[in-house]
Amino acid sequence: MSERLDWIASPTARPLRGEITVPGDKSISHRAIMLSALAEGTSRVEGFLEGEDTRATARIFGQMGVRIEAPSPGERVVRGVGLHGLRAPEDMLDCGNSGTAMRLLCGVLAGQPFDSTLTGDASLSKRPMRRVTGPLAQMGAAIETAEGGVPPLRVRGNGALRGVDYASPIASAQVKSAVLLAGLYAEGETIVTEARPTRDYTERMLAALGWPIEFEPGRARLSGGQALRAIDIVVPADFSSAAFFMVAATVVPGSELVLRGVGMNPRRIGLLHVLRAMGADIVEANRHEAGGEPVADLVVRHAALRGIDVPVEYVADMIDEFPVLFVAAACAEGITTIRGAEELRVKESDRIAVMAAGMRALGIHIEETPDGAVIEAGGLHGGAVESHGDHRCAMAFAVAGAIAGGAITIRDCANVATSFPGFIDLANSCGLAVRTA
Ligand code: S3P
Repeated sequence: MSERLDWIASPTARPLRGEITVPGDKSISHRAIMLSALAEGTSRVEGFLEGEDTRATARIFGQMGVRIEAPSPGERVVRGVGLHGLRAPEDMLDCGNSGTAMRLLCGVLAGQPFDSTLTGDASLSKRPMRRVTGPLAQMGAAIETAEGGVPPLRVRGNGALRGVDYASPIASAQVKSAVLLAGLYAEGETIVTEARPTRDYTERMLAALGWPIEFEPGRARLSGGQALRAIDIVVPADFSSAAFFMVAATVVPGSELVLRGVGMNPRRIGLLHVLRAMGADIVEANRHEAGGEPVADLVVRHAALRGIDVPVEYVADMIDEFPVLFVAAACAEGITTIRGAEELRVKESDRIAVMAAGMRALGIHIEETPDGAVIEAGGLHGGAVESHGDHRCAMAFAVAGAIAGGAITIRDCANVATSFPGFIDLANSCGLAVRTA
């Protein structure tokens, strides 16, 4: 695990200006490595996120005999081994902080003829895994968790998975993806229906690599026993990383910031809808497609925000953006209410508790509820907050620092490297004032 690192975020001396490009999409980067590793032939990945999470996925496939070259930062050449070409790993497979790596790999490994063990860091080792081991067991997989359904996960080799018709009670792309990936190895048809539609990158990429799949929001269906063919994959900039700058430029007076080439998959842009409903001025320019995904430049100008009741139907489409929404809500006029977001309690940290405690330490009134929060706008003052090693909470507090009355010390920020390497430099380049303590 990375060493402990604290940040100091100071009020901005100037508006946010310029044009920036945030790093590549984390979800797509994980899947690009996984699916091209299982494909026949050589795939090139451009815009790969050089984060600890996605590198963990690449390292794990390396442990299973897949050659992955990195000719330049953000580029990977993956020498696919085919669906049945993975080798038994000699050691445990360490997913670090990454729930996506662990849960999706669980699906892939369930279909292998060899045993394997998935481990993770202290945060990942507390996260619930029965949501994937349960449906995979229905497919015939044998996966043992530690007590309480948490990692490490021991996956027993199994050459005989069968398809499943699984209605997922949780809105989770990781659960859906784990089942679909196991479905590649299963006899017969695998169908996943979801409580609410979630990001569909696994489905889109499977289709792009030539696997027959039917999908629509909330439902996907495929059959086992086909093949994946190598392709070139272009990864757009990560909407979730752009989100910090969308909120920062909205709340800092006088700002006008352009975020280039942001992935605009409809299942990811809930925060854009919510910020607009709060009064934000965010314009999409240069809309086009890259790598089969909608992409746009986002022009963000300062605007006054007002509190809203966040519509529950947007929750899944902005599940990673709630930490920074807490900050936007604190800067809005009136009250913002979040409901139906109990999944936030089992992310890299309990994001409701961590954000509520941090925002309270900065002078904001927040009522925590089991599935959300009621946030009253107010003047933020400086102080010290704990990110609890959660990358997105750390970056959200850095945005709070921009408009606080004094500097904010943010503790335990090393995990920002899991999803957003270079955050501090990029933030300072456009007008934020964040430095290591
Ligand atoms: C992800 C799905 C979401 C999200 C995570 C990435 C993915 O998790 O929070 O950051 O790439 O599939 P859940 O599936 O747990 O909602």
